[in-house]
Amino acid sequence: MRIGILGTGRMATTLARLWANAEHDVLLGSRDPGRGRTVAADLDAGIQGGANDDAIAHGDAVLLTFPGGEAVRGVSGLRFREGQILVDLTNRAGLDLPAGDSLALRIQAAAPRTRVVKAFNTIHFRSLADPVHATVRAAGPYCGDDAEARRIVGGLVADAGLDPIDAGPLAQAYLLEHLALLWIDLAFTRGVGADTAFALLRREST
Ligand SMILES: NC(=O)c1ccc[n+]([C@@H]2O[C@H](COP(=O)([O-])OP(=O)(O)OC[C@H]3O[C@@H](n4cnc5c(N)ncnc54)[C@H](OP(=O)(O)O)[C@@H]3O)[C@@H](O)[C@H]2O)c1
Repeated sequence: MRIGILGTGRMATTLARLWANAEHDVLLGSRDPGRGRTVAADLDAGIQGGANDDAIAHGDAVLLTFPGGEAVRGVSGLRFREGQILVDLTNRAGLDLPAGDSLALRIQAAAPRTRVVKAFNTIHFRSLADPVHATVRAAGPYCGDDAEARRIVGGLVADAGLDPIDAGPLAQAYLLEHLALLWIDLAFTRGVGADTAFALLRREST
């Protein structure tokens, strides 16, 4: 599918490469279209580059990779198409949001034409690049209000190599955002280390 990516940083380039390897048609967008083209060319994976507006024009689904503190303001300045899928992987570290509230709900309110699905926020970019740890695939929980958008993003989660886990409506996004906060605390404060990821163990293999 055609995927536009907003931003050219670590998560953006990691997912761009994974999706290009899975035969998706990816365009990396940037605030600086020249940087978008340069970063895309450097990935050397058949990925196009340009401005953030080019990524929106290109994508059936658009991935939002802005810093958490810039995401709501950032999307409100962009013009999405009606019904466009907006995959939100932002995290709330350092932000003061009330319990139950989430960046995802705020992003949905700031980009009301889109169908927001929260995904990819619970895994570090290095784990994402190589998501099988020992023999277990890292978990890829996602949530959103639109069932079709959720199904499509579930496919993109699987195509990135993660174990897709449908976590329900967008009101659940605060849980995914807190799961990421737990991972950050374990990895960087409690000595667990960053080369780790959450997995969901099932009694029966599916
Ligand atoms: N790093 C991780 O392992 C990880 C894991 C899960 C979730 N996340 C979340 O994913 C998001 C991206 O993380 P990252 O580590 O990939 O960050 P990053 O490397 O800093 O990339 C963020 C990109 O967003 C764009 N950007 C920066 N400031 C902006 C602004 N003020 N307005 C609009 N765009 C801006 C930049 O692209 P241009 O300069 O090209 O516009 C930049 O490359 C964050 O919300 C983070 O919490 C990160």
